[in-house]
Amino acid sequence: RIFKRQMQCRFDIDRLNAPFLAIYDSLIPTEEEKAKQNQLFTLLETLITKEWPEAQLYVYGSCGNSFGVSKSDIDLCLAIDVADDNKSEILLRLADILQSDNLQNVQALTRARVPIVKLMDPVTGISCDICINNVLAVINTKLLRDYANIDARLRQLAFIVKHWAKSRGVNETYQGTLSSYAYVLMCIHFLQQRRPAVLPCLQEMRSTYSVTVENIECAFFDQVDKLRDFGSQNREPIAKLVWAFFNYWAYGHDYANSVISVRTGSVLSKREKDWTRRIGNDRHLICIEDPFEISHDLGRVVDKYSIKVLREEFERAAEIMQYDANPCVKLFEPY
Ligand code: CTP
Ligand code: MG
Repeated sequence: RIFKRQMQCRFDIDRLNAPFLAIYDSLIPTEEEKAKQNQLFTLLETLITKEWPEAQLYVYGSCGNSFGVSKSDIDLCLAIDVADDNKSEILLRLADILQSDNLQNVQALTRARVPIVKLMDPVTGISCDICINNVLAVINTKLLRDYANIDARLRQLAFIVKHWAKSRGVNETYQGTLSSYAYVLMCIHFLQQRRPAVLPCLQEMRSTYSVTVENIECAFFDQVDKLRDFGSQNREPIAKLVWAFFNYWAYGHDYANSVISVRTGSVLSKREKDWTRRIGNDRHLICIEDPFEISHDLGRVVDKYSIKVLREEFERAAEIMQYDANPCVKLFEPY
């Protein structure tokens, strides 16, 4: 199966550009919604700095990385000088404060893998999760946002891929399929690999932004307004890229030996990462290197059952992009 030949693109692919762009447009949040998110953020920031003047509140996840569809929840990170043992105390205190300010459904989940406070704002209707000191997530959020600002096609492709993954039920980490974060990294890597390239590799360039978090040096070129023309040699429009993305993950990717790496802008071998065998729960059946926590394989949630589901979905999508009369409908049909 691995050696199935990649397909030649259908001749009429360009007629799909307009419908794919229409789907993309229908998914992006409105200015009004963005304003409401900002309003809630400002309220929470005010409440928090009143209690902890030294603390900082950051947005991470899809509301901060510009890959958020309309009606997304907001992910927030409270950066505060506290020992890990005392995080629960802070979360419980935070829940109290939020409850007294009439926020709804306030819950402190102190025993979760990532402890958080959840809440819903009755004024804007927006739900929100607040975690503590997940600073790497704040930085990888910036990396994704910076990539999105280089070439508009990344955001278009990632919205379509995320929409496909949600519609087809393969965006559920607790069921062994991939996170939205993993899908966006797959899109960035794919666009780094196009010839001519659509995206550069920011972490291989001269660093203009650098922070060290949990002993990990996070450094990359972040003056992305200087890179606005980077992808202009490549004129492939969105439909061709969607077609090629699914074709790559259906027939082009070497699942047995390869690791995709946004950090290096290249494909690495499982052997050089020592990801060739199962260790604990990490099976490495599809390998996606985290750009900063490079020992993290974002495919580690995938098991021997869900890898089949995923690969069949990639093949289904590739076949639809190749042969279907109406891919923009069929691709997103509920499973
Ligand atoms: N994250 C991470 N490592 C992971 C998963 C997630 O660092 N293994 C962080 C990333 O900063 C990511 C954020 O958590 O942006 C939220 O992850 P996820 O829910 O997968 O992505 P969203 O962009 O919020 O997607 P959605 O629109 O589906 O909410
Ligand atoms: Mg999210």
